[in-house]
Amino acid sequence: MADRISTLVMFGATGDLARRMLLPSLYGLDSDGLLPDNLRIIGTARTELDDAGFRERGTSALQEHLPEDFYAAGIAERFLSRLHYVPLDITQPAGFEGLAKAIGDPCHGVAIFLSTAPSLFKPTIDGLAAAGLACPTVRMALEKPLGTDLESSREINDAVAAHFPEDRTFRIDHYLGKETVQNLIALRFANLMFEPLWNSTHIDHVQITVAETVGLEGRGDYYDGAGALRDMVQNHMLQLLALVAMEPPSDFNATAVRDEKVKVLRALRPIGAADAELATVTGQYARGAIDGEPVPGYDEEIGRDSATETFVALKAHIDNWRWKGVPFYLRTGKRMPMRDTEIFIQFKDVPYSIFASRGATTRPNKLVIGLQPEETISLHLMAKAPGLDRQGVRLREIPLDIGLANAFSEYRRRIAYERLLLDLIEGDPTLFVRRDEVEAQWAWIDRIRAAWAEKGMSPKPYPAGTWGPSAAIALTERDGISWNE
Ligand code: BG6
Repeated sequence: MADRISTLVMFGATGDLARRMLLPSLYGLDSDGLLPDNLRIIGTARTELDDAGFRERGTSALQEHLPEDFYAAGIAERFLSRLHYVPLDITQPAGFEGLAKAIGDPCHGVAIFLSTAPSLFKPTIDGLAAAGLACPTVRMALEKPLGTDLESSREINDAVAAHFPEDRTFRIDHYLGKETVQNLIALRFANLMFEPLWNSTHIDHVQITVAETVGLEGRGDYYDGAGALRDMVQNHMLQLLALVAMEPPSDFNATAVRDEKVKVLRALRPIGAADAELATVTGQYARGAIDGEPVPGYDEEIGRDSATETFVALKAHIDNWRWKGVPFYLRTGKRMPMRDTEIFIQFKDVPYSIFASRGATTRPNKLVIGLQPEETISLHLMAKAPGLDRQGVRLREIPLDIGLANAFSEYRRRIAYERLLLDLIEGDPTLFVRRDEVEAQWAWIDRIRAAWAEKGMSPKPYPAGTWGPSAAIALTERDGISWNE
């Protein structure tokens, strides 16, 4: 599968993802000369548009979402000339023939990117197959949500697998396209010093936080049926956890990396009804303020009473030799005080302090990998404060900070989708999620949801602009641990 494709078909081409992410990402690749010269991009959606109309939308998407100094009219002109549009009503099989005609001979390599409602996946795939578009030179990329639970995800996976074998199926988790997420793999496996310490002998616990300041962003219809557990934990956070916890793969290739991730996902200890109240917390934002600006509560935003969680905190365990007894605390929420995505590794303290007799205390080392808003790696070490130490030794924790933006200032910061779209175009599935991973993720999440239902747990309110309900603090404090803030 190393052949580059010559046609990229975008289902959902008039949607938000295409406008904010996909078109700007493709432009970025084009401006760096990375798209195949002959690549055509065919957008399709129900809206009646022609090529010119789609190009007009493309222009405004680029102008709105690219940094001003990156948008160049000359490159935009070349890029826009790649865009074509075929209106298509997925429920009408005839439309697929029009699409097949626009694509021409699929032997030249086609990638199809589905970012539509999951209920449309099956009819779309059946329509494509009936129009002769499921042949061995066609790849299928699927954007989340891939179902709402294990059963519906299996149905989607079965529908896809009926026409597209796994090696031509590219399930997107855009977190895997983020530079810092890939840097986590480099940090762990391109340096000698971390791996010997990366286990329960030396690591006390791990925290993964994905905090957002945004609320519903006009996606209420989808979000209210999903909630934070399914929207963020099932996919992005479990992928981060798997990358932190996996064994060293034998190679940086799709099979080796995904084999290791799935082992972690399968080793997640189920959280059932007996543990749900102690191991999970859910919340929903109420009216509050972010950066001094008042923001409405969730119910108010959505216009009705809702029991959907916009915050979740969990204590997870991975039942294997490496991680025995090491809690992984995960939390994510909307309308938090700041945008902050980080992985925090808390090491254990030195086994014995030679400085105790000199009045100094040591603090255990920490490694903080910041993903957003800045890409940073920060290793907190103990150092002696300058001085003659007449009143005893003074030790202080100091960070060894690497800002990746500075360290690699000559590189452009890319949108995560640039990497994923290029890998799709070139046929490299390493950073895409395999079926067994998605299903292991759903199995774990379904169990938690069933436990919430069994216990009648509902989200606790938290004022917008705070770090979630106080129970989230208690979740870690019970173990003598504080969230890294
Ligand atoms: C999406 C979720 O998958 O990820 C959104 O559906 C969320 O609710 C988004 O806001 C967060 O992505 P990022 O890249 O901004 O952290």
